[in-house]
Order: sequence, then structure tokens, then C-alpha cells
Amino acid sequence: MTINSSAWQTLFINVNLATMTDGANSYGAIENGAIAISEGKIAWLGEEVNLPNYDEKSVHVIDGNGKWLTPGLVDCHTHLVYGGNRANEFEMRLQGKSYQEIANAGGGIVSTVSATRKASESQLLASALPRLIALHQQGVTSIEIKSGYGLDTENEIKMLKVAGQLAEKLPVTIKRTFLGAHALPLEYKDKPDEYVDLVCNEMIPIIARRNLADAVDVFCESIGFSLAQTERVFAAAQKHHLPIKVHAEQLSNLGGTALAAKYNALSSDHIEFLDEAGIKAMKYADMTAVLLPGAFYFLRETQLPPMVLLRKYQVPMAIATDANPGSSPIHNIQLMLNMACTFFRLTPAEALAGVTCFGAKALGLAKNKGQLALGFDADIALWNIEQPAELCYQFGVNPLSELFVAGNKVI
Ligand code: NIG
Ligand code: FE
Repeated sequence: MTINSSAWQTLFINVNLATMTDGANSYGAIENGAIAISEGKIAWLGEEVNLPNYDEKSVHVIDGNGKWLTPGLVDCHTHLVYGGNRANEFEMRLQGKSYQEIANAGGGIVSTVSATRKASESQLLASALPRLIALHQQGVTSIEIKSGYGLDTENEIKMLKVAGQLAEKLPVTIKRTFLGAHALPLEYKDKPDEYVDLVCNEMIPIIARRNLADAVDVFCESIGFSLAQTERVFAAAQKHHLPIKVHAEQLSNLGGTALAAKYNALSSDHIEFLDEAGIKAMKYADMTAVLLPGAFYFLRETQLPPMVLLRKYQVPMAIATDANPGSSPIHNIQLMLNMACTFFRLTPAEALAGVTCFGAKALGLAKNKGQLALGFDADIALWNIEQPAELCYQFGVNPLSELFVAGNKVI
């Protein structure tokens, strides 16, 4: 292969690379490495001793001083845009009420719905921005943001527009997911099928036509939507050529994951109660399992996701914050890396793969993001660490040294 080093704009030398090109098997480490960037893409990488000749006058050379580079982190499941907060429900849970009991008594998701409906676009943007800044400062360069607290056409669109506006505020790639089937709004109490009609026949067509979402998600659960209702939403998404994601098997094993597999979904998320049949279906459909340790922790769940079987069937595992006001009011990706290891017993290499290559895969970005590899987007984080496992081992001190998006230094 001929290497056109005259096109290089930036070159990192004296760095160690956790390329994350080996899935969860290892960090894909290249020690004493170098990496070159041209037009926002990775143009060369390898051991520094093999670096081709380049023109020192035209390339901006960055000495990494022996630090580690990883791909920019991907947080592939968040509900970052919402009104109000639910600290009162946190207090209720500490007095003995469960998440389901609070939801059934009119709290939970629908209480965030009333706060979100009342908020203007600019108010939602102002409250979401510090949450996104917090994640970005920890190295997040790609993020998924779901709607699902509007639950009517106007307010779902409002949320998706705000999620899009965030991309104008920060150099972060934002993938938007329409989650109209998140909960039943109060005005449709006892009429879930009519609400699903609205989601399928009005919201999805408008959102698809206006290009407001990159995927469609459903909360398939006893306190969310039944399998039959979930399938109707999937069918509508498929008709409008929108990829599918699902919140499934979080509190019980309804079979939402296997159903999503039939629709070639990108991912099934939560999945604490997923069984072996569901895992086989995921493997067959090349889906990603998105594990959400923040929700597991904050709801004080005890049922662990089936990591051993996920490994056995080699289903890729992503890790995300699930940042939301009810089940995971946590905007810290490093804490998720740590919890993925401590609670779910992932290895640090598996956890890091969960926020890089497999996080990207869960968003349909596997070909451009989440790996340090030739031709991939030059979204790159430089870390003040001596070994990659440190990213999972401690939190509270931010190890991020510098951050680059499409080759440009943004932090
Ligand atoms: O991912 N499971 C459903 N949705 C969110 C919770 C949202 C909320 O409680 O506001 C989740 O955990
Ligand atoms: Fe969620």
C-alpha cells in the first residue's frame, strides 16, 4: 500500500494505542505507537519505529509523552433531554416503594412527561447541555439521545429537535432515537392500543418524513408495552426504513428481545432477565446487547444480565449510562465502566469495548467510529494513564488529557 504522508495534517507520536480493533478480546494495544490524521480520518497507525517519512513542516506533530490513546467514547443509550427531575421518587423508593409501584401510581416516566411538556425547547436545551458537557469532558464523542418524555406528536418532535440542537452546541455526534412507545400518557389511560395507533400512524410517519430520528425504540415491559403492541411499532418503523432498538427484559422476560431480532434490530438494552433463546436470537440477528449498570445500581436490582451466556454466544456487549431522571440519573461514563466490571464482572477490556467498538455497533456506526483503525473517523481521546484498565478502575479524577473530533482538538 502506498502511504501518502504528504496529506497528513496531524501526527501523534510517542503514544500507546488502545485500538479496540479486537472486539472485547483485548485492547488491540500498540505500545510505542504513532497515528496520523488526514481530512478527519485515521490515515496511518502502527509502531512508531515503522513510521514512514513525512514532512515535519507541514504536519502538526503532537508528542503524547507515553500516554494512551483510545477511540472517542460512545454512550449508546441515553435519555439526556428531559424536564424536571425525580428526586422525590428517589425519596419514595427509600421509604419502601418500588419503581413499578411508583409508575403504577402515576409517577415514574409520566411525571417526567408533564415536566417535559411544560418546558420550552430552549429550557430543555439549557437543562440538557450541562449533562452532555459532563459526558463530553469524560471523552464522549458520540451519543444516542432518545425522545420518550413527550408522548404526543408535538412534544416528541420537540424533544428530537432539542437533541439535534445539542449537536450545534458541542462537537459530539448525536444519534436520535424516537421512543414514543416509552409509557402510556395519562390521556390514553386504558386505551393503550389507541396510543400505539398514534405512534404508528402519525408520529413515526411524520418523524421519518422530517428526518428527525435515526432509530425507533420501544419499552417492552409490563409497565410499558406488550409484545403485540411492540411488534406494531416495529412494523411501522420497518415500513419507514428506520432501524429498531428495544428496552427489553429489564424487569421480566416478555420476549421483546427475540421479537426485535426478527426485525433485525440494532440492539436490545437492559436485558437482565433475558434467557438463552433470546440470546441465540440476538446472535443470529447480529444484535448488540446494551448493558446499563447505572439503572441496575440505581434501582437496586439483583438480577444480573446473562453475561456468561452472552460471552458463550459471542454477542457483543455495549455499556451505556442510560442517563435519565428516573432509573439512572447518572452522567458519568467512567462510573459505568467501573460498575460494568464490579457489578457485571466484565473484564476491563470488555467494558472498554462496550463504550467504543460495540457502543458504535449498537448505533449502526461500527464502520466509522469506536476503533482506531485506518479510514475511521479521527475521534480520539488522549488519557493520562499508564494502562487501559485504569479507565475502569478509578473514577472521580478525570483522566482525560485531550480530546479530538474528526482530527480537531476540542478539549
Ligand atoms: O431506560 N426503562 C425505561 N426507560 C428508562 C427509564 C426512564 C425513566 O424512569 O424515566 C430506562 O431505564
Ligand atoms: Fe433507557
